Amino acid sequence: MQIKNICCIGAGYVGGPTMAVIALKCPNINVTVVDANPEKIKAWNGLLDELPVYEPGLAEVVKEARGRNLFFSNDIAANIEKAEMIFMAVNTPTKTEGEGAGMAADLRYIEACARDISKYSKSDKIVIEKSTLPVRTAEKIKEILEENSIDIHFEILSNPEFLAEGTAIQDLFKSDRVLIGGDETESGQNAVKALVDIYANWIPKEKILTTNVWSSELAKLASNAMLAKRISSINSLSALCEKTGANIDELSKAIGMDHRIGPYFLKASVGFGGSCFQKDILNLVYLCKYYGLEEVAEYWHGVIKINDYQKNRFAQKIIDGLGGDVERKKITILGWSFKKDTNDSRESAAIYVTHSLIEAGAQIAVYDPMVDAQKIKSDLKILWESKPLSENEIQKKLACLECFDDYRSAIQESQAIGILTEWDEFKDYSWESISQNTLIVDGRNILNHKSVISIGK
Ligand code: NAD
Ligand code: UGA
Repeated sequence: MQIKNICCIGAGYVGGPTMAVIALKCPNINVTVVDANPEKIKAWNGLLDELPVYEPGLAEVVKEARGRNLFFSNDIAANIEKAEMIFMAVNTPTKTEGEGAGMAADLRYIEACARDISKYSKSDKIVIEKSTLPVRTAEKIKEILEENSIDIHFEILSNPEFLAEGTAIQDLFKSDRVLIGGDETESGQNAVKALVDIYANWIPKEKILTTNVWSSELAKLASNAMLAKRISSINSLSALCEKTGANIDELSKAIGMDHRIGPYFLKASVGFGGSCFQKDILNLVYLCKYYGLEEVAEYWHGVIKINDYQKNRFAQKIIDGLGGDVERKKITILGWSFKKDTNDSRESAAIYVTHSLIEAGAQIAVYDPMVDAQKIKSDLKILWESKPLSENEIQKKLACLECFDDYRSAIQESQAIGILTEWDEFKDYSWESISQNTLIVDGRNILNHKSVISIGK
């Protein structure tokens, strides 16, 4: 099938950057990204330094392709109708209610996409799962697609995304692999070929891996689980280092030099954040339980438990460093995003550490170079609403929080500073003089100063 028009449903951290790169690399294909949120589409069509996603290199790609063969639109119906190939890149958060609440993936957004595709399609389509989904979701999507459509053939592929935020454009330009899962039928294999041909415009053929649909869906969850497990492994050892005098950075280096292990994802930290690791592992745990694999579920659940332990340990380090009492003491949180070079703060460790410190009575100041006050407050509000706290209680807690646009004001008269994100600019502050009057707890081990309290040292 000759692909001339692609539609992507979901203009978020995945849909925006991936489609921008496909448009850049395939100038003969029109790529339109649609979203249910008109504000987001407006921002994608707006100023390049105000795009809804901050990623190094993204603005340059959008600048080149936007208006040429890359479009952002609110018109979901027309773009579904026009496209031969449709990517679904909508969010798949953890369910908050109903069966599987707190563990299973909430598939309501993906199901809504499938209903829209079924409703607006007038010709055959290749429908692609770009979102991260539980294994065998394609079955459910097929059911929805075929419910109301007569005489239209839908071919479903799984093409999970492996980009990491902060390096998304480089990851998309030079992917370790592109994974495409399809049916073994003739039409399935034709659809796989159509997608392979698109990626082959810039990805070497040997890096494009084709599998069956279920392997592809499960490989995405498994990849994230393996990456997160390495972080929890090293974070668990950081606690043992602190008891024994071993140094976690030295340990990581020594372990990672074994080529069978490798050096990546062995950096001890305050705990992993981001919108995916936790939700994908919980989803995996749920799937294992669903299939009666209790021991396997328990094994992967340990990754989350250690991550929670690490975040709590970090908050406690600050409290202990201030003599066990933080009541009315000013503590500054430096860094709110879940890692450097992104404006994304979903599931950031900073949210949980701030919550624990406010619970203990502290006054919190926050500075992040990319995340603004409104987002910081809304992240905390979402957490407190989920507890659930009343509006009155939430307002009382928010009164203990102040956000700043520059770090100097944020740290002024602070008794302790917690470094939660490894932003490069933090390394250059004058720590020598700051540390004379302030306790510094470095959750990213980016400072090399003897008075700083680090992780695993
Ligand atoms: P996101 O929340 O940034 O974006 C999702 C977008 O989909 C939102 O803009 C939302 O308005 C839109 N949307 C939801 N339902 C819709 C509907 N029915 N019709 C039209 N638009 C709709 O999410 P994201 O971070 O881009 O993640 C998307 C998927 O990709 C998830 O499954 C995630 O697990 C996976 N993933 C994310 C990353 C990442 O780095 N963020 C990396 C790999 C995979
Ligand atoms: C992660 C995966 O790396 C991507 O391959 C995947 O596509 C994506 O999830 C997804 O499915 O959403 P991302 O969450 O964007 O990407 O960023 P990572 O670089 O993996 O970092 C995740 C968290 O782990 C961050 O909080 C980071 O600071 C932390 N981390 C990472 C560590 O604490 N130590 C490390 O050694 C590495």
